[in-house]
Amino acid sequence: MFDLTANVADREARRARRLESIYHVGQDRIWDGRAVLADLIAQHGAPKLPERERRALSRIFSIIMWGELAAWKISAQLTDQLVPLEPKLAAASQVHDEARHFYVMHDYLTALGHKPPPMDFWSRRVVEMTLHTKDLTKKLLGMQLTIETIALTIFQRVRELEVEPVLTELLPFYERDEARHVGLGIQMLPQLVAEMSYAERIDLAVFHLDLYGSAVMSLKSLEPALESIGVDPRSILAIGFRKQSDIDTMFREEFPSWPLDPPEKRVFAGLCELLFPVKEGEVTPSRRARLGIALDVMRRKRPGVLEIEAEKRASRRTDNLNRAGINGSPAE
Ligand SMILES: [Fe+2]
Ligand SMILES: [Fe+2]
Repeated sequence: MFDLTANVADREARRARRLESIYHVGQDRIWDGRAVLADLIAQHGAPKLPERERRALSRIFSIIMWGELAAWKISAQLTDQLVPLEPKLAAASQVHDEARHFYVMHDYLTALGHKPPPMDFWSRRVVEMTLHTKDLTKKLLGMQLTIETIALTIFQRVRELEVEPVLTELLPFYERDEARHVGLGIQMLPQLVAEMSYAERIDLAVFHLDLYGSAVMSLKSLEPALESIGVDPRSILAIGFRKQSDIDTMFREEFPSWPLDPPEKRVFAGLCELLFPVKEGEVTPSRRARLGIALDVMRRKRPGVLEIEAEKRASRRTDNLNRAGINGSPAE
């Protein structure tokens, strides 16, 4: 729109159009947060849950609410910091979305009868690292790819479990917006990384690992609350890994040299096994056994959470097909 002269490479022009369309799609799909929440409450009644579940849901979504406030501030920084006008438009539309996400979640938690507590140490660390870095690449990596992916993962799992009807129907509005926000990172990051020196890439990988490590520690602190509403933290990790590998695939379409299995990803997969081990029955493996498993996962000598959960999903699908007699095997 702003600079499509002949000397601009095709790829650049395509990327610019995609970035600009993030703004226009956002404009077309804009929703009125007050009206949507009021309609859902009119339809289902004020959110009500037994005390234990109410506390757990409030704890998890208070973190989301403060995360939305941080996302609002970070996207405002990006709007200022990005120079080309197309990504600037995309970031500006994100500011408007995140402001809405914040007040709607605040109003939802109020309707649930909960005063949001401050963020825990690890969640605060994830957002503050992203908020305080001056480096554009780190900010985009932290916001568009890490914080957005974590939020999308929690939204998907809680929606699938249908914990509370108002929230279940509210979350798709959030998911649509957040998925669009990931688009800004996907369009911008590969080019920025491609222009980095080797030392800068290592610095970025360390930052990324630190962010993911803090995020997984925050998940650990949320484990009791997640279990209270029936969410297995490993299922959250599996969805997160899956979303991350979808993002990597999109990166590779733009930049075929994007690494398939970088060291920081391996270290993170090992850390997940250490903190969230597979239980044998109800028995948690010893610390020594967990360390051995984590090292094997890091060396890709045994499957990690992504592969194990993918296998479980595939076998569940086969079971369902068998039961329905669809895949040619007789139903049990
Ligand atoms: Fe958001
Ligand atoms: Fe977002």
